[in-house]
Amino acid sequence: MRVLVVGGAGYIGSHICKALAERGDEPIVFDNLSTGHEHAVMWGPLFRGDVCQKTEILQAFIDYQPEAVMHFAANIEVGEGEREPLAFWENNVGGVVSLLSAMEHVGCDKLVFSSTCATYGVPETLPLTENEPQAPINVYGRTKLAVERMLADVSRAKGLRYAALRYFNASGASPDGEIGEEHPVETHLIPLALRAAAGLGGGLKVFGSDYDTPDGTCIRDYIHVVDLASAHLAALDFLLENNSGFACNVGTGHGYSVREVIDTVEKVTGYKVPHALCDRRAGDPPRLFADVTLSHELLAFKPKRSDLETIVRDAWNFHKQKWSI
Ligand SMILES: NC(=O)c1ccc[n+]([C@@H]2O[C@H](COP(=O)([O-])OP(=O)(O)OC[C@H]3O[C@@H](n4cnc5c(N)ncnc54)[C@H](O)[C@@H]3O)[C@@H](O)[C@H]2O)c1
Repeated sequence: MRVLVVGGAGYIGSHICKALAERGDEPIVFDNLSTGHEHAVMWGPLFRGDVCQKTEILQAFIDYQPEAVMHFAANIEVGEGEREPLAFWENNVGGVVSLLSAMEHVGCDKLVFSSTCATYGVPETLPLTENEPQAPINVYGRTKLAVERMLADVSRAKGLRYAALRYFNASGASPDGEIGEEHPVETHLIPLALRAAAGLGGGLKVFGSDYDTPDGTCIRDYIHVVDLASAHLAALDFLLENNSGFACNVGTGHGYSVREVIDTVEKVTGYKVPHALCDRRAGDPPRLFADVTLSHELLAFKPKRSDLETIVRDAWNFHKQKWSI
């Protein structure tokens, strides 16, 4: 099947392209390379364009006639969203308006969308089920929630089939080291801890060490990007068979603390992770981890590489090559 992968030059999108190609599908990447990389587009053509520009995204549909779409393009850096909310609303929400208009125009009705656990905000109950109230506490989460609402509206009115996958913390890299996490501005814990271990960019900041958790640091649900890719393939298959839309968590159901991540990075790399214990960050919940029942029931999804040591090992393998260590 031919799949248009919007944002396919980025971290998660490039791993999905690889997984699509490995099972015989044809990924077509549509990307403006604002944070993605041309060198990560290896499994099909790159259409360089901005999804917010209706004529550009429509041209990609006309040129390649994809049967389905996966949408990853977004501004993702939470702090930037607070400083520049309009840029987030324009790209994260406006980009989807433009994409859905083009899909309607050409009659393409299947979309897998990158949503996020940030749409829940600070959860009342754990593990987090899809029925938890969605009350995001930042601009990033609010733009993603707005898109979920838009997808439901368009599905109701026009029959769009969609999967809104609410990822927890995407992490790791392709086990062969071919692609990995290369955000221009990195805010994610594992690459930052690896960078600190490698002696690049100074020490790691640990935000909060007095939480009500076993070691006092925050707990998050890390999902290996290769497992995330299989969830996308399963969601696509679901949409081929079912004329409906759904939202679903994609996580492991298990959390690791910041302390555990640091210990694992030290074990895998053989280097110490220099770090400083800092104040808590406003709005960081002490624990976040997914209830995975629905992803299991709907998609038969079971993570295979998401134990912390495998995640860190794969990420280190990629970064070691990139940093020539
Ligand atoms: N990384 C995570 O842990 C995580 C967690 C939850 C959800 N998500 C979501 O997953 C998606 C992918 O995240 P990522 O970490 O791969 O980010 P990324 O920045 O690596 O990838 C985004 C890609 O989209 C492209 N892009 C951005 N705006 C565009 C536009 N207007 N037109 C065309 N291309 C555009 C970028 O160039 C980049 O290649 C995002 O939507 C993000 O919100 C990520």
